[in-house]
Amino acid sequence: MAGNSKSPDSSTTDPLHGFLPRKVSGAQARKALEHDLNAFTNPPTHHTARYKELLAYRKKLPVYAQMDDFFTVFNENQIVILAGEAGSGKTTQIPQFVAYSDLAHSRGKMIACTQPRRVAAKSTAERVAEEMDVQLGYQVGYSIRFENRTKRGTTFLKYMTDGMLLREAMSDHSLRQYSTIILDEVHERTLATDILMGLLKAVAKRRADLKIIIMSATLNAVKFQEYFSLGSETRAPLFKVPGRTHPIEIIYSQEPELNYVEAAIRFVLTIHRAEDPGDILLFLTGEDEIEMACREIKLEVDHLIKQYPSSVGPIVCIPFYAALEPTQQQRVFDQTAPPAEGPDLPLGRKVVISTNIAETSLTIDGIVYVVDPGYFKQKIYNPRTRRESLLVHPISQASAQQRTGRTGRTRPGKCFRLYTEEYFMSLEEETCPEILRSNLSNMVLQLVKLGIWVKDLAQFDYLDTPAPEALMRGVESLNYLKAFDEDETLTPLGSMMAEFPLDPQLASLLITSPQFKCSEEIVTITSMLSVPRIWVRPADQKREADAAKELFTIPGSDHLTLLNVYNQYVENKSDEDWPQMNFVSGHALAEAEEVREQLQRLMGKFELELVSTTGTERKSRQSILRALVCGLFMQVARREGNSYRTIKEDQFAELHPSCQLNEGHEWVLFDEFIFTGRSYLRTVSEVSQEWLLELAPSYFDLRTFPDGLTKLALEAVTKPKAAAGEQSSHRMADRATPWSL
Ligand code: CDP
Ligand code: MG
Repeated sequence: MAGNSKSPDSSTTDPLHGFLPRKVSGAQARKALEHDLNAFTNPPTHHTARYKELLAYRKKLPVYAQMDDFFTVFNENQIVILAGEAGSGKTTQIPQFVAYSDLAHSRGKMIACTQPRRVAAKSTAERVAEEMDVQLGYQVGYSIRFENRTKRGTTFLKYMTDGMLLREAMSDHSLRQYSTIILDEVHERTLATDILMGLLKAVAKRRADLKIIIMSATLNAVKFQEYFSLGSETRAPLFKVPGRTHPIEIIYSQEPELNYVEAAIRFVLTIHRAEDPGDILLFLTGEDEIEMACREIKLEVDHLIKQYPSSVGPIVCIPFYAALEPTQQQRVFDQTAPPAEGPDLPLGRKVVISTNIAETSLTIDGIVYVVDPGYFKQKIYNPRTRRESLLVHPISQASAQQRTGRTGRTRPGKCFRLYTEEYFMSLEEETCPEILRSNLSNMVLQLVKLGIWVKDLAQFDYLDTPAPEALMRGVESLNYLKAFDEDETLTPLGSMMAEFPLDPQLASLLITSPQFKCSEEIVTITSMLSVPRIWVRPADQKREADAAKELFTIPGSDHLTLLNVYNQYVENKSDEDWPQMNFVSGHALAEAEEVREQLQRLMGKFELELVSTTGTERKSRQSILRALVCGLFMQVARREGNSYRTIKEDQFAELHPSCQLNEGHEWVLFDEFIFTGRSYLRTVSEVSQEWLLELAPSYFDLRTFPDGLTKLALEAVTKPKAAAGEQSSHRMADRATPWSL
């Protein structure tokens, strides 16, 4: 096909006639784009009307106008930094340009384009498949954790999360199946993207044939250019896509706002009443706030319409956040402003209320007004206390600029910043990269799996080097999990752990569960812990929802309760209404089922046996809880007074209100330690201290255990055993059952 066709008139039947890999010009690509036949289907098919319609739209994107220059830079350089405003067409168009130049499809190679967010990878792949007139999952596909829609040998353009590409790098360090790798949204500085940058820098030296494009919003490109410099002097070239924006008026608040959610709602209502037609985008920090604001705005507007029917138009509020079900997410693109209710009546308006996902990853057309309260939610890990907190933080100046840039794309826009200009100047310039504020145990495991020695971890070529203490903590917890042996090389267990798309502790839990004869149950529990929100609790049906939850509850264990929900879900599969009637999310459960299948497949690959418990209910529950202790022993807390104190790092926390446990239990194992203004343990099971000593002896080693109440409590178990011998150990075995049935 590509260039080597001998037929004299093949230019009419082969749109890629005369194309030579990486010597393709803009004029050639444009000709292929306008061709009647699709270059990427085999045999070539005629382009549909929809293709032509979308092509007309694509031609208006700023990136399209730069095609000639792009091919020149791409053909001549191994690494290119590409920066452009959100919405200019980077994510959807650049990989397609590369497809014409690389001709990956005819060379058995692929083009990868990474995204930090699952939603973005998936929705872009859908869009691009449509633009290229091919079926999603064939020529164009996507791969995100627990969901792979690609076809081996057919897919040549693959959108994927950065985490998935990192995973692939573990089995093929040189990523040989790819001809070009595009790292997108690098300004978000996720942990996986940061590591990939370091990795690709090294791979580029080994593989002259690999091309790399680093894409970002128009921010601090120099930092990336310098990082990817070849030799000491030459910076990697910067390809800048000029924005094509209309003027945007920025309006600051005169006074600080006391309550940003209330202020935001007030602003949306004011815009709706006073400003010209045009859609509104409001940034809030999370699901609860967003849902609440949607309800309030709708109520207020309905009220206003009753009062002033001739001057207030209808409104549609569309929430957008990652945990939303896909059909709900799609609304943000599909739904338009409602029409006026009658002739001469005011026009309707669409209001999108989103987390910062709409800052760069997703472009919603038609936004004229942006309301920016100046906050977002950020996860921060403190290596000293080993505590992760998810808190509302002020955004950075860079974020504020991105938010502003979501308007003014098709006509002049306005951005309302609900803070003063002085406050804006005091904000951090850039958002703190994830590598500087995360638990690094997963990253450490992956780097070691990639062939980096533990002792060399600090010397890896990071764009920003993490704190030594954070690295140390990562290594320490992996040591407890027996991922490394004495000379700090990966054990077979550690190597297997790295292959599971899970946190190392959950991976270890899964791998050791066959020893407890309950791997079937543990794989279910792990899947349930890997999906968002199982419980549904509508604002107007809280009592009913709580009563439904009560019926699922297994006393003393949220983990066993989750298992119970899943099993009942499977039993009632034929009844479509079952999830809704029982106040559980059918979508989350279906996802858990999918995750479970994938984990089960991986377990098969490593010949980990799938076994279910036998014997009495009490016995099988005990096996499951013991397996949980064996994997999650670092997440244990002991009751002290009215709260719980975590082991070793001595942090106090309460049981989260969603826990189905009362506070009478002495030792608990938890899935999450969260800080949202107060500290909470979420998803908790009662365990016995005997199990801790028996199943995690190196972590609960009393010889090195810090002095204190916890140590005394643990010692109390061992002492009578030594004194009274066999007999008392029987008594203890009874006591070791934490719940009575
Ligand atoms: O990556 P960048 O922000 O530069 O832009 P993009 O994601 O490639 O989007 C370019 C244009 O494609 C947007 O302005 C949207 O109008 C359109 N698009 C769409 O309609 N649906 C999608 N799922 C993605 C993009
Ligand atoms: Mg993009």
